[in-house]
Amino acid sequence: MQPYAFFHKEFMPLSQAKIGILTHAFHYGTGCFEGIRANWNEKQQKFCIFRLKEHYLRLHNSCRILKIVPPYPVDVMCQLTEEVVQRSGYRENLYIRPVAYKSSEVIGVRLHNLEDDFFIIATPLPPYLAGSSVRCGTSSWVRVDDRMIPARGKICGIYVNSALAKTEAYENGYDEAILLTQDGHVAEGSGENVFLVKGNLLVTPPPSDNILEGITRQTVMQVAQEEMGINTTERHIDRSELYLADECFFTGTAANIAPIAEIDHRTIGTGGVGHITSRLCDLLKDVMLGENPKYTEWYTLITPGPAES
Ligand SMILES: Cc1ncc(COP(=O)(O)O)c(C=O)c1O
Repeated sequence: MQPYAFFHKEFMPLSQAKIGILTHAFHYGTGCFEGIRANWNEKQQKFCIFRLKEHYLRLHNSCRILKIVPPYPVDVMCQLTEEVVQRSGYRENLYIRPVAYKSSEVIGVRLHNLEDDFFIIATPLPPYLAGSSVRCGTSSWVRVDDRMIPARGKICGIYVNSALAKTEAYENGYDEAILLTQDGHVAEGSGENVFLVKGNLLVTPPPSDNILEGITRQTVMQVAQEEMGINTTERHIDRSELYLADECFFTGTAANIAPIAEIDHRTIGTGGVGHITSRLCDLLKDVMLGENPKYTEWYTLITPGPAES
């Protein structure tokens, strides 16, 4: 059992996959990536990789922004991912991280006249925000704008913006940051989308407010509509609207649904997990484990390979 990689067109233990220190993406952030969940379903003794195809469609879009030529079509990337998961031998939740990047070992800031490469790794997934009620602070760092680095691409360099915000939040005693756009509207967390609940409605910022169009975000919108009859409005959100919401929560592959208890030292709702957030968490748990037959097109079910010692 060990983290596995697909690297340089071969499968290998992660410990053997190494890049040179001059690699372009390492210096300039010129790569893009995905974060994909393989949830371990103990009952079925199978992994459920969640919305695998949608993640690779998004990776292909990120590649277009960065002028990276994807080495494989989406369906082949999906097959390679299945094999990485199988080979790892784990029987627990895994985080899958494919990266497409500028691989030339040269100095010089640009996107043109460079080689591209691609790898996939799969490694156990530690809990992230989920389970707890999250305390947030509005960040003094502003979300990158589409004219700076397009946030709809999951681009390595963007995560400096996220890291600055996350560490500022941590050092100020919070669990997570909420970043605003240049004109002061709510964008998202450092690695999650944000929703508020007001009455029987979900509200979340639109893609034009410099968010990553999260796959969990879309999942929650669809499941809320189909299973609970709750609609989502995508519109600008003011910071103070979050303070006055009935409930707030984050969504993301790593975080799933993470209820927000407090923002800028203001308790949200009752400070506990609100009933709509709680119901969505329950619904999502089943959906993400591949247990809801209505959403089978979202599931890639994988039988793990033999567990090595
Ligand atoms: C900045 C940012 N926003 C939102 C998300 C949530 O997206 P998804 O639900 O596709 O994981 C992520 C995680 O990938 C992220 O990094």
